[in-house]
Amino acid sequence: MPITTCIFDAYGTLFDVAAAARNVAAEPGRESFAEHWPAIATHWRLKQLQYTWLRAVIGAHKDFWDVTQDGLDWALEAEGLEDDPTLRERLLQLYWELEAYPEVPAMLHALKAKGMNTAILSNGSPDMLNGAVQSAGIGDVLDDVLSVESVGIFKPADVVYDLVGQRFGCAKEEVLFVSSNGWDAGAAAGYGFTTVWVNRAGEPVDRLPATPNTILSDLTTIPDLAV
Ligand code: LAC
Repeated sequence: MPITTCIFDAYGTLFDVAAAARNVAAEPGRESFAEHWPAIATHWRLKQLQYTWLRAVIGAHKDFWDVTQDGLDWALEAEGLEDDPTLRERLLQLYWELEAYPEVPAMLHALKAKGMNTAILSNGSPDMLNGAVQSAGIGDVLDDVLSVESVGIFKPADVVYDLVGQRFGCAKEEVLFVSSNGWDAGAAAGYGFTTVWVNRAGEPVDRLPATPNTILSDLTTIPDLAV
């Protein structure tokens, strides 16, 4: 069955989640933060994701913006930076305005030129996703932005992946699902989508029940897979 619908994870896939900490480190007066930013970026992302999975397992959902703040607070405390509210606010502000990876606009334009449906499917809350889409200027090449908030549980719950078929009326076999999160690309493959893992960091494949169909190092060649 041909691909009709290309669905993208947001954070880490279209948007560079390390950009907030990296850009704050480059700002004047943040020299002492510069030595901490790689650890902050790593801890922030890992805790943010752990909290989504733990909240899904124990049935204690709250939205991704809250979870993102919880992850940041853990990361700042781990690096001894918990007493700098201005730094915290600045990091959160830049998380709201994340950069898209450079190849994203051309890749989405190429998919639309092929007549594909395109959308984001993300843990992000609708407001934070709209903030990122607007600051990246890619709203005109996305048909929709689907958030887990409409089902109240985080990925990789099947009810999240169900949102794609409900929105586009397509079969699972028509969907190309693209994520930089190995666990997301693997779970979506188990669900029945054709999946791409964008493995920018060259990490090992996650040991989970299903594995991604294709592994790429960036998004440039995604339009070649939409056939
Ligand atoms: C998302 C996270 C998992 O955008 O990156 O859903």
